[in-house]
Amino acid sequence: PSRLQWGGRFAAGPASVMQAINASIGFDQRLWREDIEGSLAHAGMLAAMGIISAEDEAAIRAGLAEIAEAIAEGSFTFDPALEDIHTNIEAWLVARIGEAGRRLHTARSRNDQVATDFRLWVRNAIDSLDGQVRELMRALADRAAEHAATIMPGFTHLQTAQPVTLGHHLLAYVEMLSRDRGRLADARRRLNECPLGAAALAGTTFPIDRSMTAAALGFDRPTANSLDSVSDRDFALEFLSALSILAMHLSRFAEEIIIWTSAPYRFIRLSDAYTTGSSIMPQKRNPDAAELARAKAGRIFGALTGLLAVMKGLPLAYAKDMQEDKEPVFDAADAAELCLAAMTGMVRDMMPDVLRMRSVAGADFSTATDLADYLVRDLGLPFRTAHHVTGRIVSEAESRGLELVALPLSVMQEVEPRITEAVYDVLTIEASVAARRTLGGTAPDNVARAAARWQETLA
Ligand code: ARG
Repeated sequence: PSRLQWGGRFAAGPASVMQAINASIGFDQRLWREDIEGSLAHAGMLAAMGIISAEDEAAIRAGLAEIAEAIAEGSFTFDPALEDIHTNIEAWLVARIGEAGRRLHTARSRNDQVATDFRLWVRNAIDSLDGQVRELMRALADRAAEHAATIMPGFTHLQTAQPVTLGHHLLAYVEMLSRDRGRLADARRRLNECPLGAAALAGTTFPIDRSMTAAALGFDRPTANSLDSVSDRDFALEFLSALSILAMHLSRFAEEIIIWTSAPYRFIRLSDAYTTGSSIMPQKRNPDAAELARAKAGRIFGALTGLLAVMKGLPLAYAKDMQEDKEPVFDAADAAELCLAAMTGMVRDMMPDVLRMRSVAGADFSTATDLADYLVRDLGLPFRTAHHVTGRIVSEAESRGLELVALPLSVMQEVEPRITEAVYDVLTIEASVAARRTLGGTAPDNVARAAARWQETLA
């Protein structure tokens, strides 16, 4: 059967290692649905153009339907001697329906066939991952609405900076994920052209209708250049690029979850469902799911750089190197799917420790900027001067072991005599977040509105 396609030219079969290095059926069997879908569209077009008979088309349809059933129920045996999914399916078809099956490959090559199947697969993967990103955004928006006014420390350099709200922090990820969806949608738009009909590389001598197959497979149009059609893997690379940026975002959030659950922070607690224990230390609650989400980003970046390296030296048009395009894409898509599901679960279940976050948010002179702003607003100091004066007050507070809110007015007045009792109104963390009402700022009202807007958009 391995001579099915090119036996005419060959006297001997392949070395066993040739088959081992050459066969892709071990992984490209995942393309079976797309391969059958593509063959159905191709056969329909061949018949419509009078290139094969209506009887042959009907036999092909029936045969492919049987094959789909056999694969779905697990009774189809994939044969490595038949190299890949395309040849496996075609060989079965010929074994089942004979002569008609031998006509299916008219005006087609595995080069345009695999390019078509793979685009269809990536398109489906984009649609399904997009739905998952949206679910994660909804989970984040829901929790953000709930915690629009929950105050936590905001960090720069991982040092206490200014108070923010937990809702605001969560919505930052919603913004990132929304751009990730945009990138996936963009990749989808560009990939949605149909390579079928490019044949091996130069087009075909048969009077095919490429627009017909493109439409039947849900593509916007056929690809414009036959050489490009069979050698382009931009669509896979763009998919992996978008997934890499998405994975980077998920990894940053996973890292924060890991930090937040650690004992010195204790900002959140994960549910039992998303925590593991230790085989030796009975007290442990480890954030393994977050750690794995962080690690899988590395795997996804590896898929992108791996495929870029495979593609970068290939002369036009098809080369067998391109068979190595599928595993990284499948692996990255699987990893992204798992990460998204796990992150969504963690977000829905996580239990913020509101009191703990509050108390940490008020520590480390987190409202020093508010004091400087007060000196500018109420006393008319230039900001640079106010910054300097505040620095001196902070250092007085530090040497006394007091937070700014607890520092006596007399101490502040020694540094700047015009400071009045009114200063205490700006030094609480509530006043600090409430005062940041600028567009995109952390004021609880802003955050509640932004969360509600996202909930509505994502409903
Ligand atoms: N299994 C091959 C792949 O995944 C299909 C295309 C083979 N084409 C060829 N000319 N050998 O790339």
